Amino acid sequence: MTPQRIGVFDSGAGGISVLKNLIESHNFKEILYYGDTARVPYGVKSKDTIRQYSLEALDFFSPFKLDLLIVACNTASAYGLSAMQEVAPYPVIGVIEPGILALQNAIQDKNAKILILGTKATICSNLYSKLLREKGYLNTFGLATSLFVPIVEEGIFEGAILDSTIAHYLKQYPSTPNAIILGCTHFPLIANSIANFYSNKPLLIHSGEAIMEYLQNFYTLQSFKETPKVKFYASDYVENLEKIANLWLKK
Ligand code: DGL
Repeated sequence: MTPQRIGVFDSGAGGISVLKNLIESHNFKEILYYGDTARVPYGVKSKDTIRQYSLEALDFFSPFKLDLLIVACNTASAYGLSAMQEVAPYPVIGVIEPGILALQNAIQDKNAKILILGTKATICSNLYSKLLREKGYLNTFGLATSLFVPIVEEGIFEGAILDSTIAHYLKQYPSTPNAIILGCTHFPLIANSIANFYSNKPLLIHSGEAIMEYLQNFYTLQSFKETPKVKFYASDYVENLEKIANLWLKK
């Protein structure tokens, strides 16, 4: 199957960091982005609520004929993906499995120290650690870095507030990682500041890059000359989502 018209679902604006890679690939004709901005953040909610909200996102997409749906949100990927896959009439892909595969492709050393950053819900799900363990990577550490989300939403991508928040969290990891999984849609926007906390320049796993690598491996993709037509939808205040998209897509 060659996906041409795809959907991207996120809890809010965060998935724009994934959308950016999908747009830049020139592999799709049309991308429909839906952010559940009325109910964001998902990262502090319960497993059942996140699963329910994720299923409701499928209702939003039901009038459109999608070839494929990408769940850009790590939190929804952790708790809602399998339920969505059971009922959707098209393939639904989350960001966690692609992230694991991207790490596996980049790091062969099974003793590598892997730091997983995410929302409270994503870290509590333990899904990244579990899947990494299954691939033989035992040296993992999950850290919920919830404050990164509102800081990025505020448009703060560098500077003292961000650096002290990064230090507040990363000091809790008693080692120097070889790789960091940016397990939340917002974190790629502050990737440089996160990496700069360490002097060894750890490998960063970014969901947008990982999903493209995954799609290139498992799907036949067409190349288009034109950039895809992108349409934004939101459960609340779509104008704000478009404003954030304008800013983030230029970064
Ligand atoms: N999109 C979410 C994620 O990637 C972060 C924001 C939220 O908590 O909803 O986990």
